[in-house]
Amino acid sequence: MAEPKERMEKIFCEVFEPLPRQGPGSRSSAKRALDLCGSLPASPAVLDLGSGAGAQTFHLAELTTGTIIAIDNHAPNIERLRAEVAARGLGERIHPLVADIGKPEHEPESFDLIWSEGALYFIGIEEALRLYHPILKPGGFFAFTEAVWRKEDPPGEVKAAFEDYAGMGSAQDVLAKIEASDFSLVDHFTLPNEDWWDDFYMPMQRRIEALRGKYAGDAEALAALDEISREPEMHRRHSDDYGYEFFVVCRG
Ligand SMILES: C[S@@+](CC[C@H](N)C(=O)[O-])C[C@H]1O[C@@H](n2cnc3c(N)ncnc32)[C@H](O)[C@@H]1O
Repeated sequence: MAEPKERMEKIFCEVFEPLPRQGPGSRSSAKRALDLCGSLPASPAVLDLGSGAGAQTFHLAELTTGTIIAIDNHAPNIERLRAEVAARGLGERIHPLVADIGKPEHEPESFDLIWSEGALYFIGIEEALRLYHPILKPGGFFAFTEAVWRKEDPPGEVKAAFEDYAGMGSAQDVLAKIEASDFSLVDHFTLPNEDWWDDFYMPMQRRIEALRGKYAGDAEALAALDEISREPEMHRRHSDDYGYEFFVVCRG
């Protein structure tokens, strides 16, 4: 029998892995951010950091004619992405890799565009800006989303839910980190509410309900599902307190 923490992780993966996205976002926000990257070449070389199962990787493949290396350190996400890439006949353009975004091994000046939705908090924005600046070509763009506080003193329940997001600050705090880096800000915008729900929390809630049926009578599994279901419920009550911001910066 798995230990409670391992059980929780297993059920967490069972909920998240099949979702359309593993975090907030949408095709229209990806397009809005991409439109800010005005001077990209016709077929840019793109690096997608923390791709998950590749929701935004496929948006980038639709919205550009470029090639995309998508990296994630959770092997099941990359296996699912590889299968979907093969099913869509995109093997020439999308190259999924199991790798650690904290240890980039790419050649200097390899990419026109580096993209990351909801994954940089694992290494921190300052570190991401430092690590990936040399890997971008001069004039290239780095577009990323980051969880931010929208109010100065959010309720304890919300703070506790983000305790793993070390260094989470406001949009102004991220702008100060960009200002202190070798990048220049192009622009930033807040993800709209539907980016949390349409492809993320609504499918998550349906998945949780399906798993409640599968685990009926299993008190430990049901308690794990209850805990996971608090995240969308909290967002419904407290979306004024926190959000996700899309930032687009440029290597001058
Ligand atoms: C919140 S999910 C976002 C996934 C996807 N970008 C999306 O928006 O649907 C964060 C992703 O980052 C990946 N990740 C976390 N730490 C990582 C690391 N050090 N290296 C590579 N991927 C990492 C996780 O496995 C997860 O798939």
